[in-house]
Amino acid sequence: MSAPTSVPTLEVRNLRTHFFTPGGVLPAVDDVSLTLERGRILGLVGESGSGKTVTGFSILGLLDAPGRIVGGQILFQGRDLVTLDKKSLRALQGNRIAMIFQDPMMTLNPVLRVDEQMIDAVQAHSKAGREQARELARDTLGMMGIASPEERLRAYPHQLSGGMRQRVAIAIALLHKPDLIIADEPTTALDVTIQAQILSEVQKLARQHGTALIWITHDLSVVAGLADDIAVMYSGRIVEQGKVADVLDQPLHPYTQGLIGSLPSNNRRGERLRQIPGLTPNLLHLPPTCAFAARCERVSEQCLTRPGMTEPLPGHAVRCFHPAVPVHAVEFRHG
Ligand SMILES: Nc1ncnc2c1ncn2[C@@H]1O[C@H](COP(=O)(O)OP(=O)(O)OP(=O)(O)O)[C@@H](O)[C@H]1O
Ligand code: SF4
Ligand SMILES: [Mg+2]
Repeated sequence: MSAPTSVPTLEVRNLRTHFFTPGGVLPAVDDVSLTLERGRILGLVGESGSGKTVTGFSILGLLDAPGRIVGGQILFQGRDLVTLDKKSLRALQGNRIAMIFQDPMMTLNPVLRVDEQMIDAVQAHSKAGREQARELARDTLGMMGIASPEERLRAYPHQLSGGMRQRVAIAIALLHKPDLIIADEPTTALDVTIQAQILSEVQKLARQHGTALIWITHDLSVVAGLADDIAVMYSGRIVEQGKVADVLDQPLHPYTQGLIGSLPSNNRRGERLRQIPGLTPNLLHLPPTCAFAARCERVSEQCLTRPGMTEPLPGHAVRCFHPAVPVHAVEFRHG
């Protein structure tokens, strides 16, 4: 059963996830807040190590020691997953929330044929008979751009190529028709046409079924084409968030500006974003300053303390003392 439309599918409030390593406490996710309404798609972007996967794992309750949620709430249809008992959490994970992992073998069962796994996925949420479920599975493989789907249904995962496995894993997530999908860069390695086809199917599921999606990626062009909202992470924190069009057209944070600016004009798909000069700080030894200070052209004395999140433009938030707010917008708001 889906919750009433007034309750967001997901509301993450001030999430903090730390790793208690022998070298010290590593704040992988620090004060992350996100809201996702039914049917909305959020693109979660940021450099390697910025905390995207740990955010996804925290929401799914998949953290292993030495990782632990040390603060915040994760409200799924109004219920806090952080304090939910293990049994209820597992029931939700199997049914209403799905993750598409970077590694499809985290989803696929190596000892079951593809058709068995896909039929299970259909029957988990509907009363479809085996034949009907199999037919739906075959059609969904076709929608993922898989040729000879009948043959693939009879295969075991190890008989498929990596790209094929990934598409089967995505198909299984879609067949579950969950209320929330968290996808961790699942299409990066796929051919550009196939990726476009899959993204269009995913978007259709969101619009038609009301599934909310978090799509983790390095590829800003994917976010531009797929997502409604975007959150940019840096060193475990969200530094900018808002509607995709607003953030990509008018980035306020120097880091977001750098990401957009560093896109090669002939950016090849799947290519990692070109580096912004300088290094991300070591999370074990975070300075008490703004985490971006060492790389920032706009750094000032004020930046020796950590900036909080502000909303200089309606629905467009940023964590920076000197956001690039256009002058006319400031005049307009104050006028
Ligand atoms: N099991 C672990 N033990 C200790 N530190 C960890 C562990 N897992 C992740 N981290 C640390 O948490 C931080 C965030 O990692 P995360 O995997 O979320 O980054 P990411 O944004 O997903 O990066 P990528 O784009 O490379 O996938 C990193 O500094 C990473 O080293
Ligand atoms: S707070 Fe200061 S150092 Fe940090 S991004 Fe903004 S201007 Fe740069
Ligand atoms: Mg990751």
